[in-house]
Amino acid sequence: MNTEQKKSLPFHFPKKFLWGAATSAHQIEGKTHNQWSVWELENAKSLANRAEYTTAHVPVWEEIKTQAQQPENYISGNAVDHYNRYEEDFALIKKLNMNAFRFSVEWSRIEPAEGAWNAEALAHYKTYVRKMKAKGIEPIMTLFHFSLPVWFAEKGGFRKRRNVKYFVRFAEKVLQEIGSEIRYVITVNEPEVYAQQSYMAGNWPPNKTSKRDMIAVYANLAHAHNRVAKLAHSMSRRYKVSVAKNIVHHYAGDDALLSRASAVVARWLADDIFFFFTKRHMDWIGVNYYFSNRYYGYRCHNPNEQVSDLGWDMQPENIQFVLERLFVKYNKPIIVTENGVADMHDETRQWWITRTLGAMHRAVQNGVPLEGYLHWSLLDNFEWAYGKWPRFGLCAVEYSTGKRTPRKSATWFAQVIKKLRY
Ligand code: BGC
Repeated sequence: MNTEQKKSLPFHFPKKFLWGAATSAHQIEGKTHNQWSVWELENAKSLANRAEYTTAHVPVWEEIKTQAQQPENYISGNAVDHYNRYEEDFALIKKLNMNAFRFSVEWSRIEPAEGAWNAEALAHYKTYVRKMKAKGIEPIMTLFHFSLPVWFAEKGGFRKRRNVKYFVRFAEKVLQEIGSEIRYVITVNEPEVYAQQSYMAGNWPPNKTSKRDMIAVYANLAHAHNRVAKLAHSMSRRYKVSVAKNIVHHYAGDDALLSRASAVVARWLADDIFFFFTKRHMDWIGVNYYFSNRYYGYRCHNPNEQVSDLGWDMQPENIQFVLERLFVKYNKPIIVTENGVADMHDETRQWWITRTLGAMHRAVQNGVPLEGYLHWSLLDNFEWAYGKWPRFGLCAVEYSTGKRTPRKSATWFAQVIKKLRY
């Protein structure tokens, strides 16, 4: 592309920018046996029975209610069979002109029983990463993305500080066996979301509703991150380690002191405490951005002018403020490790990405060392307790056949990436 054409683009990003998509093992691989899959089988019926109560507020309820009221929706099962179809999916990544892919290794496959390593699973991920790299795709590997081996969950999971050593041992094994081709390592995905949903809100396994448990899990995940980061650095300086942190943009809706104070406190509770304990062991910051919270006094009240299929308030451009704040405060490179929208009719995805690119561009202009953008997600996938109806994929997946089809927004985004990259 010549300089004239480049000038006509509204956005410019650094040359080596990572353009990609993000996923997690349990949500796409299929046939996992872990704490989640066991929980799904036990809870599918009641999730289906309660769907009207839990989900009828979403704007697409009329369209999805039949699916949402069927137990099958809540069982990941074959998911989108990425474990077997990954080469096809790497080809999709290339087709979308991307040069990076975020995935997670499934602990329950690698260590199905305590201390017993599954050579086949390790060999699978080794080949997986090798093939990805051979296609010119930068692997960004997550070690814990919400799913745990049953044996580890039975020991009390991350609720117990003494269990962290098992995670560290797993991380060591993974880095030894498949780490040689990896640079970017994410230890933990969204520690606060996991601690909140699983130990406080009672929505995810093990369905606890205790503030104390939540705090303990959050603290143990910070500790787990630090230990794995230290270990990775001792193994090779090549590793660039971070967490993928869900960052909400908390902001005041008016000038009142109380509104501003509420936003500061919310940011501090949600993000700064965690970074206070982990920042020395972070080479970069992974940001998952989906929403903003607006405060009036001590109350959170969002505009909700435009909401996604999940009913989430959409303010994509606020990612700019998240990126700027994190850089000013922590002075680290940043990668957007997740960002996207549940949009079954593909009506808002292109708009969302356009606004996001503009906002990221402004942040870069203002000095933020942003190194990549990974859209959530490459494919439609299993959306945890909501099951299969939410559609986050750049590529639509027909669950009955596994057929993948890039959505219109994906084809458009691929063209944008091409212009930005070359
Ligand atoms: C999680 C993903 C999830 C996505 C959309 C993030 O909180 O890391 O696993 O699918 O958001 O809800």
